[in-house]
Amino acid sequence: MVDVNIRQVNKRDVDGCCKTESACYTSDGATREKILKRIMLFPEGFLIAESEGEIIGLVNSASTDKEDITGEELKDMVGHVKDGGNMVIFSLAVLPEFQGNGISKQLMARFIEVSKALRKEKVLLICKSELIPYYQNYGFFYGGKSSSKHGGFEWHEMYLLLNAVNEI
Ligand SMILES: CC(C)(COP(=O)(O)OP(=O)(O)OC[C@H]1O[C@@H](n2cnc3c(N)ncnc32)[C@H](O)[C@@H]1OP(=O)(O)O)[C@@H](O)C(=O)NCCC(=O)NCCS
Repeated sequence: MVDVNIRQVNKRDVDGCCKTESACYTSDGATREKILKRIMLFPEGFLIAESEGEIIGLVNSASTDKEDITGEELKDMVGHVKDGGNMVIFSLAVLPEFQGNGISKQLMARFIEVSKALRKEKVLLICKSELIPYYQNYGFFYGGKSSSKHGGFEWHEMYLLLNAVNEI
């Protein structure tokens, strides 16, 4: 069992977040600049998992009233509206050596809790086909194939209705 603390990000976490992001993603990972923007503009929607003072996992997001999340600009926080109705997850990542310990599940549980407290309606994201069942486990519905070709991959839309989900 890994002893883990889930908390909101702050500016000092940027290096640990970059390390986690680059260990978990290849061509589709966010740059340091993007990560910093997400920290500065929407810390409420950016949670980290910490163990023994090290960042070992993260989930980050923006908020918008839009339903179409395929544009690249939102990843740069262009169009982010703090009081938007939807949360849009960009990255959910756990360092490979810590995977399989329920850490992403704790991150998602807290993320959903925070989203509800912020009175959001939905959580939207796009994922690769192999993770569709992973998100369905949390109560997400399949929204069809995405038109995004981010990182040269094929993506699928998933959405979670927050007022229909209890505990995960
Ligand atoms: C996907 C990822 C975040 C999972 O993190 P993790 O901490 O290992 O996941 P957990 O241990 O919390 O697993 C939670 C549940 O999901 C399941 N699960 C984990 N990885 C899965 C996968 N790749 N596909 C399907 N189910 C998966 C687990 O079996 C567990 O199920 P249970 O609750 O029934 O036991 C992690 O593998 C990762 O960082 N991958 C690289 C980045 C990535 O692809 N992120 C997703 C962005 S769309």
